Amino acid sequence: MPRTLPDAPFGRAETRVVLLEGISASAAGLFAAAGYTDIQRHAKALEGAALVDAVRGAHIIGIRSRTQLSSAVLAGAGPLIAVGCFCIGTDQVDLQAARALGIPVFNAPFSNTRSVAELTIGEIVMLLRRITPRSADAHGGGWDKSAQGSFEVRGKVLGIVGYGNIGSQLSTMAEAMGMRVIYYDRTNKLRHGNTESVPTLADLLRQSDVVSLHVPDLPSTRGMIGADEIAAMRPGAYLINNSRGRVVDLDALAAALRAGRLAGAAVDVFPTEPKSAGERFATPLQGLPNVILTPHIGGSTEEAQERIGEEVAHKLLDFLDSGSTGGAVNFPHVEQPRSPGQPRFLHVHRNVPGVLGQINAVFSQIGLNVSAQVLQTEGDLGYVMVDVERRPTGRSATLAALCDIEGTIRARALD
Ligand code: NAI
Repeated sequence: MPRTLPDAPFGRAETRVVLLEGISASAAGLFAAAGYTDIQRHAKALEGAALVDAVRGAHIIGIRSRTQLSSAVLAGAGPLIAVGCFCIGTDQVDLQAARALGIPVFNAPFSNTRSVAELTIGEIVMLLRRITPRSADAHGGGWDKSAQGSFEVRGKVLGIVGYGNIGSQLSTMAEAMGMRVIYYDRTNKLRHGNTESVPTLADLLRQSDVVSLHVPDLPSTRGMIGADEIAAMRPGAYLINNSRGRVVDLDALAAALRAGRLAGAAVDVFPTEPKSAGERFATPLQGLPNVILTPHIGGSTEEAQERIGEEVAHKLLDFLDSGSTGGAVNFPHVEQPRSPGQPRFLHVHRNVPGVLGQINAVFSQIGLNVSAQVLQTEGDLGYVMVDVERRPTGRSATLAALCDIEGTIRARALD
């Protein structure tokens, strides 16, 4: 069913923003500063009827990783026009259903990269100095002052697998501490500082004292570090995985640690992670010495949460004000600066032949000159922005005519 939507810039007071899961106050602050007054904040994730009730009437929904936005919840949210995931992952949203309803979904893929890089730096020092077992020993009344098995990081080789946002930041910090950094990435990456790339993963494993993984969860990276790769690492090397749980075979890693083949490991992500704080966490690495286990907190800092709040809120505000879908994870990307005094129409449609011609016919029939037009299609979805030289007299009738075009999913007008 085609749907026309309210004019967000002129209906800011009527635009309902519902933010769940204790999303950072920085997000609500930006909406308030932009003139949105109906901002409803919930401290926790909701489910079932409570979720349906909370999002009814919402134009914007903001969630973090716990709230499940199924097709039924999305469809029941009435005037919903966009979803913001104030986190990295978006698999808690039925992205296809959102797309079919013409609802873009935004996230914040880069806001917590610094936090992960900093944690990794801390772990490198902690592992090389065997701080975890010594701290546990001291807590228990022990006093082991031995230097044996403790090392400085200066001069050691850090091998970074995946030289993206996190890997490259990590390399800069590690070099500042005097480490020699090499990296392996499947694509050609600009190297920072004196960092050097190596042609294969095997080269990296053979040369590194510390191997740190920063690749995404892809078919090509699942099980990337198994028994063979661990056997190819230097004896007494360290492995850090702060990327995704399925990248490392934890049984193979546990065996190598138990055998003394590796000197330590730090792991933040696991193939199976508890869904809530109450659920018991189990991994073959538990109880092994010089192993730092953390509950997927690599990106969890107050600064990162604040930046995520700002990043996603900016994307949502931009979408409300201009229709921009830059950075949306399920939508064609269309961005076009606004020209003062030129109203804009937004049209989301099934990607079938002839829609653009019919959109233009609507404007030409009322004698309205189109001053700019950007169309982007992606798979079965098309999204077009049309700027016109003046506000049509019968704007509602123009919107209705756009919605009548066969294949229309939704349309919106911005003054
Ligand atoms: P990114 O996309 O900027 O970088 C990933 C890099 O891995 C890219 O340069 C890519 O070319 C490379 N890559 C992909 N497949 C590869 C392969 N098969 N072999 C070698 N290189 C490959 O990602 P970013 O932002 O640096 O994040 C890295 C990982 O960290 C992601 O998995 C992300 O989900 C995870 N992460 C973990 C967090 C935590 O809380 N522990 C928080 C934030 C991110």
